[in-house]
Amino acid sequence: MAGKMTEGRVVAITGAGRGLGREYALLLAREGAKVLVNDIGVRRDGVPESADAAQGVVDEIVARGGEAAAHTADVSTSDGAKTLIDQAIDTWGKIDVVVNNAGILRDRMVVNMTEDDWDSVLRVHLKSTFLTTNYVANHWRDMVKAEKAVDARIINTTSSSGLYGAVGQSNYGAAKAGIAAFTIITARELQRYGVTVNAISPTALTRMTEDVAVAKTPEAEAGLIDPRWVAPICVWLASEQSKDVTGRVFASSGRFLAVAEGWVKGPSTDAPAEPDEVDAVIRPLLAEARRNSDPRGDVVAEGLI
Ligand SMILES: NC(=O)c1ccc[n+]([C@@H]2O[C@H](COP(=O)([O-])OP(=O)(O)OC[C@H]3O[C@@H](n4cnc5c(N)ncnc54)[C@H](O)[C@@H]3O)[C@@H](O)[C@H]2O)c1
Repeated sequence: MAGKMTEGRVVAITGAGRGLGREYALLLAREGAKVLVNDIGVRRDGVPESADAAQGVVDEIVARGGEAAAHTADVSTSDGAKTLIDQAIDTWGKIDVVVNNAGILRDRMVVNMTEDDWDSVLRVHLKSTFLTTNYVANHWRDMVKAEKAVDARIINTTSSSGLYGAVGQSNYGAAKAGIAAFTIITARELQRYGVTVNAISPTALTRMTEDVAVAKTPEAEAGLIDPRWVAPICVWLASEQSKDVTGRVFASSGRFLAVAEGWVKGPSTDAPAEPDEVDAVIRPLLAEARRNSDPRGDVVAEGLI
């Protein structure tokens, strides 16, 4: 078994009953990890469906000779996040990696968005990421205090929608931008405990994207948007090889693997004291500043806001 990248690592993955999470689970297990497959089993919009998917992925892993167990609670509740971590520790004696991947979609223009669309999407993406992090980070901090070795990972899931902006996804993009910021902040906070925190911004053909533009591209037809392409960076991040890398966002699909660059201060000037002085100084800065990227993250010279 020597040479497997995540041999003996215990990994909990949220929303791993299908799509990207399933691919992460299968590849992590192939590389020797013991995988806790979480999935509550909801429709794309978050409405309950069937919790069978998690067990289905466990069965696939076991059939291939791997080790896995299912967890079917809602990770956007504190009880669901807590039992996820507790079950991994109870089953395998430890937890090394948490992959925060569960997600839902409620796309609407902001003028049509309901409070429930907003709350549901932020709860499932952003709050669940906080809840699992909060609980597992306390566990790892206690280990450090007890002078036990920790080489742990949190792998979050952001999106081009949150990094670059996608029309119709103000709730989802806000959650995903929040996760990118949360990743950087918690990376800085948890470094002292031997924990890295990074995020993946995937592009993959799953039920989440089956009716958007990506599904109809030549790349999709060529299999380059298959979710399996994103799993290698997840395995690398979960492995011991990535222990010196933290606070980073990796954009990944079958077309590319990239390191997404964050906000920087940009061109600046001495602060104007009066509002009527602002226009004269801000215009040259706007002309000089890099524009927002396009929705794929490419720098554009003009046209987009
Ligand atoms: N597919 C893409 O191109 C793409 C792009 C950017 C980001 N993402 C992100 O990747 C992640 C996985 O997406 P996917 O495309 O595989 O979608 P998917 O719909 O195939 O899988 C998401 C899974 O999360 C589960 N889930 C939802 N709410 C849950 C909860 N509260 N507790 C536990 N499980 C829950 C669902 O049942 C589902 O199985 C999501 O965070 C998504 O936002 C996907």
